[in-house]
Amino acid sequence: MDKMWAGRFKKETDSKVNAFNSSIDFDQRMYFEDIKGSIFHAEMLSEEKIISENDSKAIIDGLYSILDDIDNNDEFEIDTESEDIHMFIEAELTKRIGRAGKRLHTARSRNDQVTTDLRMYLKRKTNTTRKRLISLIGTLCRKSLRYTRAIMPGYTHLQRAQPITFAHHLMAYANMFMRDIDRIDDAVNRMMSECPLGSCALAGTTYPIDREMTAIKLGFDKPCANSLDGVSDRDFCIEIASALSIIMVHLSRFSEEIILWCSWEFKFIELDDAFATGSSIMPQKKNPDVAELVRGKSARVFGDLQTLLVTMKGLPLAYNKDMQEDKEAIFDAVDTVNLCLRTFTPMIWSMDVKDENMRNAAAKGFINATDCADYLVKKGMAFRDAYKITGELVAYCIEEGYILEDLPIEIYRKKSRLFNDDVRVAVNLDTCLKKRSSYGGPAPECVTKQIINIKEKLRIIRNELHD
Ligand code: ARG
Repeated sequence: MDKMWAGRFKKETDSKVNAFNSSIDFDQRMYFEDIKGSIFHAEMLSEEKIISENDSKAIIDGLYSILDDIDNNDEFEIDTESEDIHMFIEAELTKRIGRAGKRLHTARSRNDQVTTDLRMYLKRKTNTTRKRLISLIGTLCRKSLRYTRAIMPGYTHLQRAQPITFAHHLMAYANMFMRDIDRIDDAVNRMMSECPLGSCALAGTTYPIDREMTAIKLGFDKPCANSLDGVSDRDFCIEIASALSIIMVHLSRFSEEIILWCSWEFKFIELDDAFATGSSIMPQKKNPDVAELVRGKSARVFGDLQTLLVTMKGLPLAYNKDMQEDKEAIFDAVDTVNLCLRTFTPMIWSMDVKDENMRNAAAKGFINATDCADYLVKKGMAFRDAYKITGELVAYCIEEGYILEDLPIEIYRKKSRLFNDDVRVAVNLDTCLKKRSSYGGPAPECVTKQIINIKEKLRIIRNELHD
């Protein structure tokens, strides 16, 4: 096939170079955005009298017919001999409408075209991410409502620390995922604030183009201020990959907990059969493969972010072919996150919560020791002294096989005369939970408020979904 740029060359490109250079295998997924960009570019060219109205109309009709064929005609195939999707669509257009097709690339370059397409494409894909995050958070709220009284040990250093509830734990993740939506929105808003189209190859153009018009029609706020920056910038990919990486950090930590919780050692939850897998050799096994894969796939997304950072770090302005490598990295990152979220949410919704086991675990680890110390503090003792006495009581319990709830009152009183019978109420797990009612705390009514607040925020952002 004749190259569009064949004029300058005397020899055919080596076939190995063609294959090496080509990006159509992975950038054809941007066909919709490429066609959309070209339609408004053609409209602008004719409004500015750079091409005739007839040519513009032929171009636009031709582009719609290509879009229709790609979407609906099974016989039609994107020619993977083309270097990239931009070249393919332009060549296909000229094949269909002849001479007018050759006018489309006036006052434009693939350099501004590719970064415009990529931004529009990422806006669409991250909208799916956003929707899936909303659905995950909604699921966490619904699940939490059932477990606001399900006491479980809260951990630090993976050692039982203080009483919380399963709802409190789930809502911690809901808050992280809310910030993730915020980060995606922030990155997308910045990405769509300035349109690079019209930057052309790097130095703008001598044609009287209307960059304002194409920017607005393509969903941007305004044209970018500097044409060199317009074609050189891949910050938007890095920002989106960062936001996606943080989502994966959250999903991966959550997965790690799911894996722990469904082990026999914890048995806080049991995964639904539909979201677990068996072993080929050990008949008793029920494995949390989904959670493990999500944890594993976080590595790819962090790798994608690294790829983007390292690709860009030494590049002189403006476009360099290295930048073609941005696409596989950012596509993989967004695909992976969307894929993980799709399976993770129903896994969470369908898992069986063993609240009795959580409570039993909570009863054992002296997670009410702080409350015992606080009891003394409320009777006038300094916290440090109360802390020491409680530590001694815990040591005694461990040696003699007691828990603070059933330790005889005489033993308490041997350590301090401030202890009275009511200490048993103070160290009772339900009391400990109820009293942790500081703002954001695990007390049932506090967590219920958290759930209501997040649900309300979700209702608002659901309505803001990008088109
Ligand atoms: N396929 C290229 C890419 O993805 C398009 C831009 C090519 N521009 C150029 N001057 N070779 O980056």
